[in-house]
Amino acid sequence: MSTYNKNLKWRYATKKFDATKRISETDLELLKEAIQLSASSYGLQPYKVLIISDPKIKSQLKVAANGQQQLEDASHVVVFANLSDLSEKHVASYIENISKTRGVEIQQLDGYANLMNRVVGDLSEDAREVWAAKQTYIALGNLLSAAADLKIDSCPMEGFDAEKVAEVLNLKEFNLTPSLIAPLGYRSTEDTTQHYDKVRKPEEELFITI
Ligand SMILES: Cc1cc2nc3c(=O)[nH]c(=O)nc-3n(C[C@H](O)[C@H](O)[C@H](O)COP(=O)(O)O)c2cc1C
Repeated sequence: MSTYNKNLKWRYATKKFDATKRISETDLELLKEAIQLSASSYGLQPYKVLIISDPKIKSQLKVAANGQQQLEDASHVVVFANLSDLSEKHVASYIENISKTRGVEIQQLDGYANLMNRVVGDLSEDAREVWAAKQTYIALGNLLSAAADLKIDSCPMEGFDAEKVAEVLNLKEFNLTPSLIAPLGYRSTEDTTQHYDKVRKPEEELFITI
């Protein structure tokens, strides 16, 4: 088994973190970089990522997530929040970034901008938000793998009240909707879940080889 896959096997949705252990700034920067490098449709990255270590906010997030203790004991809590108002202004800002990063005239990118505006504009408001939220799952996947690579534990979570989480983090004011939460830290020796065998579909059920 590759080291990468060994790390995927090592990781599990951590239910109990060791509240005394903290992620170093160096590791935190590596995790942020992994999120930043995530692929997204057209490269639009239609989301913001909040990184929370404030104990008071972590406790409030726990309450907003049916009391799931991971949120309080984790070293850091990452909240993925998709844009709820994805529009031409975000496309324009992305185009500006491409222009600056690659030294290309904005006008040369008109075709790409029009394409994105057409695709985004053709979606209903609800569908647009779902589409934006989908992109956060890719970033979450990268975060889980990057964390496992650093032997940092994590728990992907969508079991929370989005309204309450938005309230705790004042997200509505910024047209953001929380889609996913990932507490990060180090597993407690008391977390019996770590000893459970991984339950996955057998290859013959999961894959169709054509
Ligand atoms: C999108 C998503 C949402 C999840 N939500 C929760 C959650 O709210 N609370 C929780 O304890 N686990 C949550 N899980 C963890 C899954 O239950 C877990 O990943 C799955 O059972 C496989 O186990 P493993 O990750 O330990 O290998 C979630 C996982 C994903 C991918």
